Amino acid sequence: MSLTPRRIISPIIAALVFSTPFVSYAQRMAVEAEHGMVVSVHELAAQVGADVLQRGGNAVDAAVATGFALGVVYPWAGPLGGGGFMMIHLADGRDIAIDYRERAPAAASRDMYLGPDGNVLKGPGSSTFGWRASGVPGDVAGWALALEKYGSHKLSWAELIEPARRLAADGHHITQFTASRFRSQAEKLGAFADSKKIFLNGGALWRTGDLWRQPELAATLARLQQNGPREFYEGETARLIADAMARNGGTLTLADLKNYTAVERVPVRMTYRGYEIVTMPPPSSSGIALLQMFAMIEPFDVAALGPNSAAKYHLFIEAMRRAYRDRAEYLGDPDFVKVPVAGLMDRNYIAGLMKNFDPAKATPSAGLAPGGPAGWEPPKVASVPSGGFAESTETTHFSIVDAEGNAVANTFTLNGGFGSGVTIPGTGVLMNNEMDDFTSKPGTPNQFRLIQGEANAIAPGKHPLSSMAPTFVFKDGKIFLVTGAPGGSTIINAVFQVITNVIDFNLPVSLAVDTPRIHHQWMPDVVNYDPYGLSKDTMDALRAKGHQFEERNFFGGQLVPVIERYPNDTMTIMVDPATHLRLGAADSRKPDSKAVGY
Ligand code: DON
Repeated sequence: MSLTPRRIISPIIAALVFSTPFVSYAQRMAVEAEHGMVVSVHELAAQVGADVLQRGGNAVDAAVATGFALGVVYPWAGPLGGGGFMMIHLADGRDIAIDYRERAPAAASRDMYLGPDGNVLKGPGSSTFGWRASGVPGDVAGWALALEKYGSHKLSWAELIEPARRLAADGHHITQFTASRFRSQAEKLGAFADSKKIFLNGGALWRTGDLWRQPELAATLARLQQNGPREFYEGETARLIADAMARNGGTLTLADLKNYTAVERVPVRMTYRGYEIVTMPPPSSSGIALLQMFAMIEPFDVAALGPNSAAKYHLFIEAMRRAYRDRAEYLGDPDFVKVPVAGLMDRNYIAGLMKNFDPAKATPSAGLAPGGPAGWEPPKVASVPSGGFAESTETTHFSIVDAEGNAVANTFTLNGGFGSGVTIPGTGVLMNNEMDDFTSKPGTPNQFRLIQGEANAIAPGKHPLSSMAPTFVFKDGKIFLVTGAPGGSTIINAVFQVITNVIDFNLPVSLAVDTPRIHHQWMPDVVNYDPYGLSKDTMDALRAKGHQFEERNFFGGQLVPVIERYPNDTMTIMVDPATHLRLGAADSRKPDSKAVGY
């Protein structure tokens, strides 16, 4: 006689198995450490940062070492050919934002990605693929600036690069995830000789466990150690980049590299239920959008709605829709356009955005007007999306807290996975395709399906608008959370939900990070969600209010319950206010991620 599963499962076990738990994914405990903590998407990079902390370096020193190491072990997102943002909190109370975002080359122009028919170009020559897609990289300049002004000066520039150089020269063993990333982008990488040689093993493909060496990158890192950061912008490396660009119809020149500078900006900040949130100002859209969303939901008793009720999701979707609507209209590089920061963050203005919020009904995105903050003349309205998208994308965020209480939240990117696909011959440096973050054509969506406006039009020297959101949360003036995420347009919503999970629902930090999330970005007017993250009855209740769900993941891939397909992992640290323990939560969405503390 065979027992069917139904007969052998007791009612109690059945209740446990078949009820909808809050978390659908395996939970991991946060890693506790007394002194310092680094949480990164790759264990080797986290270990490099933690070693620096243990050797007496501060959080900024560790960030620089971790960043360089990620350039070696996480090549589709973190190499030297990209840019990003570093938020620094110093134990003396200062908060600093380092903007090392790429800038458009001098030869860039507003319509450079439009074909003769007026449509946005695809393929070679476009804003996403090949030699014309790159902005001037900022990583090296940004990390050098951070180190010079805020490093401990106990460890030299060369010493902080050394672990990365060794990883490149001696090699490291390829993980299953890395092998799969290389495989999945074989077509893109195969189009460029050096990318094919390095990332595809000349076409034979790398397998899990292979020892992978990157001698050209090791040599580039050695030149940086020897000649200092200007090597990248004026030295042999700069010459190799500029020559390759010139030979292949690229836009970037030696003068562009020479003229690149990273800049310090003033973070944006606002309180939410007594906590202070300090985050990235323009040219990232993230800080303003994030703070707008917090201000929109603060008047509501979110805790009482429960962590996964339809009422909560409805409120969050409506806040997201409104913040992303404003983002599309008003945000751009503040060095080029007047961004009405104070107007956008004014609480009365934000309350006005929610005036038409209906707890019973979704507000259709079509026809939703931007708010019209003080200090801005509304530009021409962007229209509804057309065209598609289908790209694997990647960025990476790491969080660090040191023994003194200094902290770094750092997000950097090549934009699309493996950026433009181009590796500069002889350097091992893979180049970004950050130019796609500009508005190629108002009303036409970019690879994140973001519709953007005139404020983010292309101009020489301009920073493309970003969604990257390295963020701090303070409790009673003390650092409490350090967080951030990759995921293009989804970043802002990922960070938003991690923080509300902690503040409103009191979730332990590992759960706050791992738990399923939703995403809405005004246009397209759909909700994306983690599979199994929403119960059917919750989705039905939301559909009844007028929301539509998209049966694809955030990036157009098939909706399947494989957590690693969801790129908006949040590498987060909580500092326990009672014990001061650093609790590192590496998001299980990324299989090689790790929190390493001491
Ligand atoms: O700056 C931005 O908003 C984008 N370039 C980030 C790209 C990204 O996060 C891709 N990630 N998975």
